[in-house]
Amino acid sequence: MNTLNSPIGVFDSGVGGISVLKELLKQMPNEDYLYFGDSVNAPYGTKPLAHVRELTFRNIEMLLNKGAKAIAVACNTATSAAVADLRRMYPELPLVGIEPAIKPAVLHKEGSRIIVMATPMTLRLDKFKRLVDTYKDRAEIIPLACPGLMEFVESGNLLGEDLHRYLTELFWSVDNEKIDSIVLGCTHYPFVKAAIKNAVDEDVAIFDGGEGTAREMKRRLDNAGLLKISDKKGKVTFINSRNTDEELKLCRFLLESYP
Ligand code: DGL
Repeated sequence: MNTLNSPIGVFDSGVGGISVLKELLKQMPNEDYLYFGDSVNAPYGTKPLAHVRELTFRNIEMLLNKGAKAIAVACNTATSAAVADLRRMYPELPLVGIEPAIKPAVLHKEGSRIIVMATPMTLRLDKFKRLVDTYKDRAEIIPLACPGLMEFVESGNLLGEDLHRYLTELFWSVDNEKIDSIVLGCTHYPFVKAAIKNAVDEDVAIFDGGEGTAREMKRRLDNAGLLKISDKKGKVTFINSRNTDEELKLCRFLLESYP
């Protein structure tokens, strides 16, 4: 049976969710975490919807079988594809997803011009359309699909020349001069924040959903009486569908180097 001493399960299509894991650790350092990255099946964002849903259901079941007391879907794509069904399937489980942080960007500056970088699937699904509808009168919201960007992070390339070229070309379609903020609507992208700033403008404000997701997880665990009571630092266990030493080394590196 899962108790308050059981780990929080965190999953993503690959290493991107480690940006969310870092926020969870900041807010709940005493919890244990079981992080699953499905790097073998990455990227999710350019796959058919039915396939992503099936992978998401399978990953969550696996984490629950390994004893997770709660689940953070640390992937915007998987959240958009499956979160409503997941809530129906596991009504009692503290289960938190992630969505593009448009709200903080709007609150940062009303009437601003906001670019939302995300996978093609996240931008295509209704969940995103509903989010844009909520804020469309308070900001100009411009979706920018980034197929191919998560692959740079998966290969550990966070600041290379080819990444710079990719980003520069990506932003050709956008008028850089007038960007107030950028929302990173994919959990891989915070790892290339410096490269994005280089390619656009050092002064642009950048937002991601990690902090809000961690806050919501803490609230849900508290409500369920499942917050771990301990003053000992918790431990992080990584599992990855491409269970190579290299992959696990990348996970550790990203966790340690991310601010
Ligand atoms: N990290 C995932 C997200 O937040 C997506 C990357 C992918 O698998 O395409 O959307």
